[in-house]
Amino acid sequence: MGKIIALANQKGGVGKTTTCVNLAASLVVAKQKILLVDLDPQGNATMGSGVNKQSVSKSINDVLMGRATVEEVLIKNTAAGYDLLPGNGQLTEAEVKLLAVEGRETKLKEALQGIVPAYDYVLFDCPPSLNMLTVNSLVAADSVLIPMQCEYYALEGLSALVDTIQTLCRSANPKLRIEGLLRTMYDPRNRLSQEVTAELVQHFGNKVYKTVIPRNVRLAEAPSHGLPVLHYDKYSRGAASYLALAGEFLKRQQPVIAETTEAQTQPAE
Ligand SMILES: Nc1ncnc2c1ncn2[C@@H]1O[C@H](COP(=O)(O)OP(=O)(O)O)[C@@H](O)[C@H]1O
Ligand SMILES: [Mg+2]
Repeated sequence: MGKIIALANQKGGVGKTTTCVNLAASLVVAKQKILLVDLDPQGNATMGSGVNKQSVSKSINDVLMGRATVEEVLIKNTAAGYDLLPGNGQLTEAEVKLLAVEGRETKLKEALQGIVPAYDYVLFDCPPSLNMLTVNSLVAADSVLIPMQCEYYALEGLSALVDTIQTLCRSANPKLRIEGLLRTMYDPRNRLSQEVTAELVQHFGNKVYKTVIPRNVRLAEAPSHGLPVLHYDKYSRGAASYLALAGEFLKRQQPVIAETTEAQTQPAE
C-alpha cells in the first residue's frame, strides 16, 4: 500500500521524534512493514533507532542532493524491526541548496517513488520549522500526523501548519490530508489540558486521536539507549500508550463500511 505520513509541527519539543520512533516500533509489532525517514538535521530519530548519525557514510541528504540512491542509504531492519533512511547535520545542505533548485519541492517525492510500495507505511520525522525539508515532506506525504502539547497558544501555533497544508492541498499535493492530532506529554489533571482538548475537538472534530500520550520518563530515557520504548521498557506507560496509538491509527485506516442497515437486509413487509 505504501501510505506516507509526515509527522510535523513547526514547534520543537512537542514529541514529533518520540512519536515517529515509537509509532514505527509499535506498528512493526502489529506486523506492518515500516520505513522511517529522518528529515531533521538533528538526527534524533536516527540515534533513537540505534544508528549512530555520525558514522553513517551516506544520509537522506545525499539522496536529496542527487548523489546517492535510496537503496545506497537504506538501513534495513534496525533494532526495532523497521527500515531507516538516516539523517544528520548534513541535511542543512539540502535545506539551503534545494532553495535554488528547479522542482525543489518534489525532490523527496521523486526519490522515494520506487521504494514506497515495498512498505505498509512510511513515516517522516520533520524538522521543527516549515522549511524546504518540511515542504518536501508535505508534498510527498499522503497525510500529516500532528503531535502537540496542550499548552497555552497551542492552537495558534497550529495555524501556520494548517495554512501550509491547505496551500499545498490547492497546489503541489491535492491529496494531502490531516491524519490526526496527537496530544503528547498529556496530564489529564491539568485544567488547561482539558480546555485545549475541548478547543481542539471543536476545530478538528474526530481528527483528534482518543489516545493520549502521558508524560513518562521511560519515553525520555529510551533514546539514549538507541531503542524505542517498547524495547527498552515494554511494561512502561509510554510503551502502552504508543501501542494504543498504533491500534487506533490502524483502525482508522480501515474504510468505513457503509452501514448496511437492517432495513436494507430485511425483506420488505
Ligand atoms: N511523553 C513524553 N514523556 C516524557 N518525555 C517526553 C515525551 N515525549 C517526548 N519527550 C521528551 O521531550 C523532548 C522533546 O521530544 P521530541 O520527540 O524530541 O520532540 P520534537 O521531535 O517535536 O522536537 C525529548 O527530550 C523527549 O525525550
Ligand atoms: Mg524531533
